[in-house]
Amino acid sequence: MNRPTDLQLHATSHDDDADLNPSDNPSFMAVLDTRLSRRGVLRGGMGTAAAAVLGGLGLSACGGGDDDVAGALEPVTRLSFTAVSKSVADVVAVPAGYTAKVLLALGDPLTSGTPAYLNNGSDTDFDNRAGDHHDGMEYFGLATSGAAPDPANNNRGLLLINHEALSQNYLHPNGESPRPRPAGESDKEIPAHGVTVVEVARSNGEFAYVRNSALNRRVTPLTPMEMSGPARDNALLRTKYSPTGRFVRGTINNCGSGRTPWGTYLAPEENWAGYFTRSSTDNAARTAAGDAKSVTSLNRNGRSQGAASRHGWETSGPDDKYQRWIISLLGAAAANDYRNELNTYGYNVEIDPYDRGALIKKRSAMGRFAHESSAYPKPVVGKPLVYYMGDDSRGEYIYKYVSNATWLAADATAADRIATGDKYLDDGKLYVARFTADGSGSWIELSITNTAISGYAPYVFADQADVCVNSRLAADAVGATKMDRPEWCAVHPTNGEVYFTLTNNSNRKVEPTGTQQALDAANPRAYSDSFAGGPAGPPGNVNGHIIRMAETGAEPAATTFSWDVYLFGAQADASPSMVNLSSLTSDQDFSSPDGLWFSQTTGLCWIQTDDGSFTDVTNCMMLAAVPGRLGDGASTTLNYTRGDGSTLAVTTRVGAKPTADTLRRFLVGPVDCEITGITETPDGQTLFVNIQHPGEAISAATVAAGGPFVSNWPGNTGYGAGGATARPRSATIVITKNGGGRVGS
Ligand code: FEO
Ligand code: CA
Ligand code: CA
Ligand code: CA
Repeated sequence: MNRPTDLQLHATSHDDDADLNPSDNPSFMAVLDTRLSRRGVLRGGMGTAAAAVLGGLGLSACGGGDDDVAGALEPVTRLSFTAVSKSVADVVAVPAGYTAKVLLALGDPLTSGTPAYLNNGSDTDFDNRAGDHHDGMEYFGLATSGAAPDPANNNRGLLLINHEALSQNYLHPNGESPRPRPAGESDKEIPAHGVTVVEVARSNGEFAYVRNSALNRRVTPLTPMEMSGPARDNALLRTKYSPTGRFVRGTINNCGSGRTPWGTYLAPEENWAGYFTRSSTDNAARTAAGDAKSVTSLNRNGRSQGAASRHGWETSGPDDKYQRWIISLLGAAAANDYRNELNTYGYNVEIDPYDRGALIKKRSAMGRFAHESSAYPKPVVGKPLVYYMGDDSRGEYIYKYVSNATWLAADATAADRIATGDKYLDDGKLYVARFTADGSGSWIELSITNTAISGYAPYVFADQADVCVNSRLAADAVGATKMDRPEWCAVHPTNGEVYFTLTNNSNRKVEPTGTQQALDAANPRAYSDSFAGGPAGPPGNVNGHIIRMAETGAEPAATTFSWDVYLFGAQADASPSMVNLSSLTSDQDFSSPDGLWFSQTTGLCWIQTDDGSFTDVTNCMMLAAVPGRLGDGASTTLNYTRGDGSTLAVTTRVGAKPTADTLRRFLVGPVDCEITGITETPDGQTLFVNIQHPGEAISAATVAAGGPFVSNWPGNTGYGAGGATARPRSATIVITKNGGGRVGS
């Protein structure tokens, strides 16, 4: 998430990720590699940008092209659209020849009986409206009639959309009220989180959402679910809601997306910890009760006793739906209170898009941390199913899950999709990545049978369930590599290489102290940036990078890998030797990569940004890329000067510098937004993209005064109520190529 509150914080992350990783895992120093030298690549300029500005309603229809051809991967090898210029305009800009149109915005009604969204703070009933802060998203094809899956259908499908967080001031007439929060406000804010399931259909060439579809539904922080995998029925999960530790309630802060080969959705829970509060005397009470471990666990997941909850919902009254956000020892036993409620969040949540009656399950075998997206390589019959996952906080880790079951082709079309999930996602091995300076790496299994874990002194693990619930502590125990905030991951569709965005890290330092991280070969940059002509900000990895991994033997279940850095985010005018290591041009420069996804039809790599450092120059953006492969670049050494004047040399591995043919900016969003979430119809001719929190930096007082609202998108395009002075709304947009054709081709 991006929660800008102070321009002075520009050089740090605006996300609410705490400094969470106090472990003393080794951050390896660079090993100078004299065999390779940095390869300089000079490039010419690029054409001037031309952009088609999103006009909201009634723009040219996409012809739709050959709708019967679906799913064939025909890689685009050279980008040909005109790059979009950096911009701070309050519009969505896409290349000339493309059309972008709003599909579904915050508050849009999901039933015919729900009133249209007035967008003035008076709207209620978010159980029947699209939620806020659209994030990760996946398209699931529907049969032409009925609810049956048809993965090849380009004209009718379900979109599952995460709603990560809130721009809460816009949800109320006069902004957010102080605590104690009025119940009416909490009752809007809670269900504005979660996941939307919405039918979308194309007629006359244009997609629209189907307001009265019986398949539309909301999954919210109050939706009943079950815990699954090793943590099911574990004492760590026992609550007043479920004294057995089997049942859990709701999902929250769902960020990047995931899906399964059997047609279900994986909603990750990212910054869940901040919604809860624990009394300032709870540590002593827990310790007295012989449960000091729970204090260690709380702190490792970014919370301290006495810290205020994010929205104060627990102040809205005695009802259980408010009190469950208080995770203090209140009753005689776990069955009397919500001391363990925090342990019911932080998972991948599997939802069957097609069956609203199917159980929703939290897959604890895939670990508990600040989950971002999950991505799998193409399943191979007789081999395990593998998922890659990142933990987005400063200095957190990259994980891999490997199923014990081996892939059966018939499972792709199994009738009971959640039972198929039980087979592959409840029983497997969880690994964490350790990167080595020589370009190699290893996956270390997080198993209670590993003596580094079973003998870990700072936290005594009880069993494998404890390892799954406290994945970060287990990863600390085995010496995993602290990364620059792993966000989305994606698997290259033809070579199987694995890409992770490392969005930025204000804690990466030349000379770290406390919980800060030292430079290493895989996280090699710490530098300062100035914002809007101001002074240089504090040093760190300001702009982020995208790391790339290749499993040994191209075997996803391998326990070793090699790596390089595909791209370093930077401003084009930054130092080519210390910052702009990928030699980005003005048509390519970006900061804070977050969303990352490969099209299954064009093979294009789409990169989305959630940035607060480059926003003095440009709003957040989306780029299209044709990556090469690991090892196509060269090593380079960064020489830093320590406080005592000595030199710290850090050697990293940089992928081949992109060319104008292989990396171009495709989209720039409205003011103060994040671009996140992307999916496509199987023919690749329709791209769905999310615009999150335009104009989120707003105070309650400004809202009460009627504005100005920082952004007025998409009302300023004619979408919904409010017009040119509308409150801004997160929204899903549809992008098509005029006259048909695959997007980006
Ligand atoms: Fe929700 Fe890590 O971005
Ligand atoms: Ca965000
Ligand atoms: Ca982010
Ligand atoms: Ca994200």
